[in-house]
Amino acid sequence: MSDHSSSKIIYEVHANNESGNNSPSNDRNEFSKTVTELENCRGNKTESDNAEETSSFERSDKWVWDTMAVGHACVKSVVPLELLRHIYLPQQSHDRIFDPTTRTISYLQPRSYLPVKSLIQGEKKRILVTGGAGFVGSHLVDRLMLIGHEVIVLDNFFTGRKNNLSHWMGHPNFELIRHDVVDPFLIEVDQIYHLACPASPPHYQYNPIKTVKTSVMGTINMLGLAKRVKARFLLTSTSEVYGDPEEHPQAETYWGHVNPIGPRACYDEGKRVAETLTYAYMHQDSVDVRVARIFNTFGPRMNENDGRVVSNFIMQALKGEELTIYGDGLQTRSFQYVHDLVDGLILLMNKDYMEPVNLGNPDEYTIREFAELIRNEVNSSCKIKTLPAPTDDPKKRRPDISRAEQILGWKPRWPVKQGIGETVKYFQRQMEAGLIG
Ligand SMILES: NC(=O)c1ccc[n+]([C@@H]2O[C@H](COP(=O)([O-])OP(=O)(O)OC[C@H]3O[C@@H](n4cnc5c(N)ncnc54)[C@H](O)[C@@H]3O)[C@@H](O)[C@H]2O)c1
Repeated sequence: MSDHSSSKIIYEVHANNESGNNSPSNDRNEFSKTVTELENCRGNKTESDNAEETSSFERSDKWVWDTMAVGHACVKSVVPLELLRHIYLPQQSHDRIFDPTTRTISYLQPRSYLPVKSLIQGEKKRILVTGGAGFVGSHLVDRLMLIGHEVIVLDNFFTGRKNNLSHWMGHPNFELIRHDVVDPFLIEVDQIYHLACPASPPHYQYNPIKTVKTSVMGTINMLGLAKRVKARFLLTSTSEVYGDPEEHPQAETYWGHVNPIGPRACYDEGKRVAETLTYAYMHQDSVDVRVARIFNTFGPRMNENDGRVVSNFIMQALKGEELTIYGDGLQTRSFQYVHDLVDGLILLMNKDYMEPVNLGNPDEYTIREFAELIRNEVNSSCKIKTLPAPTDDPKKRRPDISRAEQILGWKPRWPVKQGIGETVKYFQRQMEAGLIG
């Protein structure tokens, strides 16, 4: 895997930023220059170049390209990494000043935006992202905006936050609509990324009936919309459809081992029905569908108290508390960094493939190893304590990503340790800004 911090070109981009001129207009010049360099460096790739592209992950002459940007030239989703970092790891907030003494926030107007690509008619798409104010959704929106599309977000803000998208508010290519996907919604769009659904156990178990309604009625509504306006539809399903798996690693052909009446069923079975609905609309009504089965993902903008392993450990370590492991800590998980997932989602949406595709990082850690990794990264004086395991907690989880490698030319580029570094920085800055405690 590549190391995003070690390349010469990344150093040069950093050096530009450290010169003190971090303004969006400076970024704008850098952006066009960098994208041109990237595309020249990579060449104008077509879908038939996929085989070559897959092998490029191992070729050292491609590291330079891979380390300075995220995305794939074949679907024009390339974005300089530094530009994305400007959004989620800004030196200072673009639109507000926090006064720690009075604990007040002053919002600044008027505002400027990061540069978005200017796409010609036909290339520029109208894209609906449901759940776009959440963790994964907001990163997907950033990428779709930067590559020049028009993006409409539907969100009921159950777990999502306006803050995750505040840097796009008012932009002519962007629209944010408060709407619950359980109710029908009509709009003319070309593509629908359907993410709306609480994803962490405390959130989806808070109101299990609503979780099932969101998965079932929300997906029916979005598939109905896709059918009506002839939009391509992508469902963000989950590795939870495999339940507590009896096959390891899990390939897309595995049917799963799910408890239909356990505390996780509202989410697991909800997503299984969402997949069933997706393929029913494909067979019965010829809707053009994609299904991504996402494995554990982490990164900036995770909810700090969503009970997920990564945010739990980082917040506990930052506060100097004990790190809590549920069970013996020998259960395994694999964690992918959010940029890798966004790469995969955009590739899948734009490729001609309708079967489910696993998107995850196959590097497998025990939960205890992972706690130690975060403790070493953040605060080595923290102790680790164990609590009883929750019901139906899967013992093993690791994606078989051969299909994604073959079909999409995709595999994760971010080593877990490096993603953890950025995520820790994000939580630190959120704490300093008084946004989380
Ligand atoms: N993050 C992961 O590790 C992971 C793993 C597997 C699958 N997924 C899937 O990816 C998608 C996004 O997950 P996330 O981690 O960003 O979660 P998240 O909770 O941060 O985001 C979900 C978003 O959906 C919105 N939402 C929830 N119910 C809604 C409703 N009824 N109507 C409109 N909006 C609604 C929330 O407000 C939030 O903005 C989900 O579908 C999830 O199942 C995520």
